[in-house]
Amino acid sequence: MKQAILIVDDEPDIRDVLTLAINDLGHNVLAAADGDEALRMFREARTPVVVTDIKMPGMDGIELLKRLKREDPDIEVVMITGHGDLDLAIRSLKHEATDFITKPINIDVLEIALKRAQERILTRQKLKEYTEHLEQHIREKSELQSRLSALGLMIGSISHGIKGLLTGLDGAIYLVESGFSKNDPAKITDGWQTVKLTIERVRKMMLDILYAAKERELKTERVQTAEFARELAGRFEAKIRGQGVEFVCEVGPGNGGFDADPSYLQAALANILENALDACCRDECKLRHCITFRVRGEGDTVVFEIGDDGPGMDSETKQKLFDLFFSSKGAHGTGLGLFVTQKIVEQHGGRIEVRSTPGHGSLFRVMIPRKTPATPTAAISA
Ligand SMILES: Nc1ncnc2c1ncn2[C@@H]1O[C@H](COP(=O)(O)OP(=O)(O)OP(=O)(O)O)[C@@H](O)[C@H]1O
Ligand SMILES: [Mg+2]
Repeated sequence: MKQAILIVDDEPDIRDVLTLAINDLGHNVLAAADGDEALRMFREARTPVVVTDIKMPGMDGIELLKRLKREDPDIEVVMITGHGDLDLAIRSLKHEATDFITKPINIDVLEIALKRAQERILTRQKLKEYTEHLEQHIREKSELQSRLSALGLMIGSISHGIKGLLTGLDGAIYLVESGFSKNDPAKITDGWQTVKLTIERVRKMMLDILYAAKERELKTERVQTAEFARELAGRFEAKIRGQGVEFVCEVGPGNGGFDADPSYLQAALANILENALDACCRDECKLRHCITFRVRGEGDTVVFEIGDDGPGMDSETKQKLFDLFFSSKGAHGTGLGLFVTQKIVEQHGGRIEVRSTPGHGSLFRVMIPRKTPATPTAAISA
């Protein structure tokens, strides 16, 4: 490997001899007459190897060695010493000189010293590459591990969810069959209703899983607020009322339009509506429940409000409700719903506010900017 070598000696004859000899070995040579000049030249040329006389007027070789090492700890410095300078030579080794050669200079010895310097440079480069590869390897492995453990959690949570759905289906089948055998149409209708609801749940779970597994790119279009909101409310109205829960929908006319991927944003809001319905159905403290769905435009933002008068949430649940796999519903929830909702709202540059008091229900406010910003924002504020 041919490289530039900086030689430093106050004696012009020695500089000339060294320049010729090192040139002959195939290297480019820069020559400096004292320590200060050497430092200047080094800063400009960054030569990886320096050969310096140890005794020089002004800055001596050891001082130069120290300063060079301070600027570049990897620099290789070969010291030239006179006879009887053993003390100095040892001191220079303490300051991490690569080697020392004695005057009068034997070219073969010089060549060996330069080779050793080059070998050290090469070894260091290899070590650096190896360390980088190793670091990369470790990074990849730990990413893989965390993906695997997320996958494990996901599979566990989904299996749990599917088990819950199957139990629901078993119950529904029992109702339908006993309805047929006892000729009881009310039981058949009841069972059939549960089958339909369960299939709807499987569909929602599949959508959440697909989205959580890989964040999708939005296909944004201009959406008319009222139309969008009425379509969503239409999908839920019968389901909510079917569970004996009142549904108040306030979607004013107008409210302009906004940028959204309508199917994803509907899925995001549907998760909140599903939770509101779950909350009402699970709340045994009250007999009658009501879910409200309000939509309005506020300047540059479209606001969707979904409220329920279910059991509300304690502060611990409120803190965790957007976490992946957090669910308080046992086999009836996967804990994917609000995690996915939050991601989708974030992708739209929007945010979610949650208000909830135990015993008094919850209110989710989703704010979506009419124009999706280039860099989406953090989505939650409580
Ligand atoms: N309106 C609400 N009232 C009370 N608790 C709620 C409400 N919305 C969410 N939560 C709480 O937040 C948790 C997380 O909700 P999330 O939708 O992410 O999961 P999940 O509903 O349990 O399961 P799924 O993945 O099937 O939606 C719920 O289990 C529940 O404890
Ligand atoms: Mg949910």
